Amino acid sequence: MITGEERGGEREKGQAAAFPAPVESTGADRWGRQRVPVLLAGLGAMAGVGAALGGYALLYEPFNVQTERIVLRLLRERPGIPREGLNILHLSDTHFRGADRREHAKIAQVRRATAGERIDLLIHTGDFLHDDRGLENVLALVDSLPKPRLGAFAVTGNHDYLFYSMKRAPLHTWRVFRAREEGVGTGIRGRPREGVDDSGMARVRRLLRFGRYLLQNRMDGEPVGTNDIAGLRRALEEQGIQFLDNRAVRLGGTDVYLVGVEDWLEGRPDLQKGFAGVPRGAPTVLLSHNPDIIESEAAGRADLILCGHTHGGQVVLPLIGPAYTHTDQLARSEASGYTRRGHTHIYVHRGLGESIPVRFGAPPHVTFIRLLPALDGADKFCAG
Ligand SMILES: [Fe+2]
Repeated sequence: MITGEERGGEREKGQAAAFPAPVESTGADRWGRQRVPVLLAGLGAMAGVGAALGGYALLYEPFNVQTERIVLRLLRERPGIPREGLNILHLSDTHFRGADRREHAKIAQVRRATAGERIDLLIHTGDFLHDDRGLENVLALVDSLPKPRLGAFAVTGNHDYLFYSMKRAPLHTWRVFRAREEGVGTGIRGRPREGVDDSGMARVRRLLRFGRYLLQNRMDGEPVGTNDIAGLRRALEEQGIQFLDNRAVRLGGTDVYLVGVEDWLEGRPDLQKGFAGVPRGAPTVLLSHNPDIIESEAAGRADLILCGHTHGGQVVLPLIGPAYTHTDQLARSEASGYTRRGHTHIYVHRGLGESIPVRFGAPPHVTFIRLLPALDGADKFCAG
């Protein structure tokens, strides 16, 4: 007679014969079996997040045109500015290049953002063009804007003169860095300049300085061609925009002066010439594409400087801030919006367009500025 226990024992024996007894597995073995799917899932998640962020930066944010409004009071007594102030519409850095779908979408956004606004001044602080193919859309943009009561004014940006390639930007940046350090022209490669220390330690120190130079937001595109700046000016002047190339105008019915300078990098900016004829103490707005104009002491005569060029960094990284601002004079935190030096307000426009067509954390915008007289000579302003 076979007991139940024995039958069970027989079954276990039979099972053991058909299926080898499992070997007890270790944690390392389990991880070995699971490693591939876990890694694949991780890579898939990272690729998904990367694709989502890339899509956002490429297809959404560049078209998400914001409207910013800021009210500024002059920081010192300046007779002659209307009590009700001046309403300024400030645009900058359109960077049009004939990419019709992108540019028509931006024009439609700007039209919606500015429709029905009553403005005294229309200001564009340069880089209308990325290259000449963008002219037609620049004219369409200007045509879509409200008509200013006191006039439309502009200055040139570096891209209005030249178009650049970023393909060899690191090499070009190195040449510009060497030229700045040594006060000589670029274009000499492979042989030391006269009087330059080219010892091993000097090279190491130079590389360290170059690293610091890059970290200070310097990366220069290589100029590879010229734009038809004369054609741009002619076409825009026919639409009623006056270019202020190192010259000033007095706004009709006021004692407010607008001064504009040529681009800091590619033009011949001349503040002395620009301010010639502007009475000391007159309320003055200075237009300069590049904010580095503040390096010049004469810029302190302006009550407000309007500029662009930085694109707000275009890509603003968490914890780091703007990735690349292309300015020597502003801190990363000042690459977009309002800042100040002494009694001079400075407004840095992030632009409407892009050089490399992505934006992250630095959306394009139009800005309405209301500029008011000072309050009893007190050092006060309001922004928001
Ligand atoms: Fe620009």
